[in-house]
Amino acid sequence: MIAPSVLSADFLHLGRDVEMINNSDADWFHVDVMDGRFVSNISFGLPIIKAIKKLATKPLDVHLMIVEPEKYFRDFKDAGADILSVHLEASTHLHRSLQAIKALGMKAGVAINPHTPVSLLADIIQDVDLVCMMSVNPGLGGQSFISNTLLKIKELKKMIVEKAAPALIEIDGGVTLDNAATIVAAGADVLVAGNTVFSSANPSQTITELKHLSK
Ligand code: DX5
Ligand code: ZN
Repeated sequence: MIAPSVLSADFLHLGRDVEMINNSDADWFHVDVMDGRFVSNISFGLPIIKAIKKLATKPLDVHLMIVEPEKYFRDFKDAGADILSVHLEASTHLHRSLQAIKALGMKAGVAINPHTPVSLLADIIQDVDLVCMMSVNPGLGGQSFISNTLLKIKELKKMIVEKAAPALIEIDGGVTLDNAATIVAAGADVLVAGNTVFSSANPSQTITELKHLSK
């Protein structure tokens, strides 16, 4: 699956870019929320998500790069999130958070930073719908893919298969037309792509190319 990252869209023409994703081969909208605390950057919040939801015809995959995410689960549900991911590094009571997200009727995701070992997911993987594995340090679009992620994808895939867990593996950061096939071969199910899609001459065509590379 392909999830274009709205972070790289043209905010002056957000409606146009949402329509482009609606009419493309993309599967989800990837929506990055940053609070200036968990990451140094501040992106956007609930009003923008509500606006996207009015037009979007595909699920909103909301990636929370914020501290104390559990304070806002209902707000993100009300804004239109279909999948809600919290960072493992920002969650003292991750199991409780995942149950709370599901109780609100959303799919529950866990995001992990590049330095966070896959082994920390061993006792939670059965409760997770999506692992958002960061392949760059979170906070900015347009960074280079960290190659160690490929080893982590393989390790996570092995864990998921061995435990017959339902989790999908999403790779977030630095996905390009050059590395997409390798990332999928390692075991990824969902590719987030920001810069690769929105800096290309034909974003919709680039989504189609990513989709075919990843088959
Ligand atoms: C990074 C965000 C990513 C970002 C990816 O903190 O979580 O979703 O938008 O952007 P690219 O694909 O440009 O690396
Ligand atoms: Zn993201």
